[in-house]
Amino acid sequence: MAASVIRQIGVLTGGGDCPGLNPVIRAVVRRALKDGIEVTGIRNGWKGLVNNETVPLDLNSVSGILPKGGTILGTSRTNPYKDPQQLSALKENLGKLGLDALIAIGGEDTLGVATKLVKEGYRIVGVPKTIDNDLSETDYTFGFDTAVNIATESIDRLHTTAESHHRIMVVEVMGRHAGWIAVHAGIAGGADFILVPEIPINVDEICAAIRKRHDRGKTFSIIVVAEGAEFAQGQTVLRDKKLDSFGHVRLGGIGDALGEIIEERTKFETRVTVLGHVQRGGTPTAFDRVLGTRFGVKAVELVIAGQWGKMVSLKGNAIVAVPIELATAKLKTLDMELYDIAKIFFG
Ligand code: F6P
Repeated sequence: MAASVIRQIGVLTGGGDCPGLNPVIRAVVRRALKDGIEVTGIRNGWKGLVNNETVPLDLNSVSGILPKGGTILGTSRTNPYKDPQQLSALKENLGKLGLDALIAIGGEDTLGVATKLVKEGYRIVGVPKTIDNDLSETDYTFGFDTAVNIATESIDRLHTTAESHHRIMVVEVMGRHAGWIAVHAGIAGGADFILVPEIPINVDEICAAIRKRHDRGKTFSIIVVAEGAEFAQGQTVLRDKKLDSFGHVRLGGIGDALGEIIEERTKFETRVTVLGHVQRGGTPTAFDRVLGTRFGVKAVELVIAGQWGKMVSLKGNAIVAVPIELATAKLKTLDMELYDIAKIFFG
């Protein structure tokens, strides 16, 4: 990637998919074409650069994708820095493609790889993506609002069945390291207790809150738990122990474990709903479409301005540029003031 005039750029989406990726891809292509810049889509994140799987993106290829969930480019959790052979194939292919710059759309893992490549002199601009909303240096990421809306609607629906059957409903939502989805959906859905990865689970407190509700005549309760929440003993509940190429385990199961304990302790009938990937699927909300569009346009403008190693970010209502490495340096965990507000409604 050598030219100072930008004629051709690449774009890739890596990590877990999330609603809003297609609006970003569309905006990248539409904004680039305005300046006569051609766009090459890289398939399946970093894996597409390792395997040289690309697709030209023009007006037609991005037509109609704005409301579509997922990513038309495909994605993967491939970490080329784990395998020297993959890394050299990636570099060789980057050279062969003759791209003047690359836009990498992804979360901490994808942007972590981007940071390393930038340090090696590659011309990369980042776009933050995660439904968990736990990337630093940006107030929000697209996909989060959609996930919160899906979780909120699910909590609303669980309310009516919980009330009819006088049951405790435990709802497990996504959130590997941070409880943003749990707290936003929990507040919006009127949860009676919210459990997040940032605070160890205290079963006595939850059961006391449920009993308090029953003492004042309520015969049902809704407990929202983030998949990454842990019992006080510090044990994460895992779906299985397999690691992906970034070393992540597969979470899931805390809802079931919690449901069992709550039923045993309170003697109230308890049911568990695990929302899982439903939160990541389907059409993005208007907020996520607008945010994705603004991020895509700004990413191309950063490329034109030669702002290598920068990531687009939302600060207040402005789209700004921040160093990619700051975004991945530490996780943006839950704002405890927000959790304090949620707590007012517990029990
Ligand atoms: O990082 C986003 C996320 O949706 C997490 O909330 C969740 O733990 C993880 O991805 C699930 O990953 P996968 O789609 O690979 O199962």
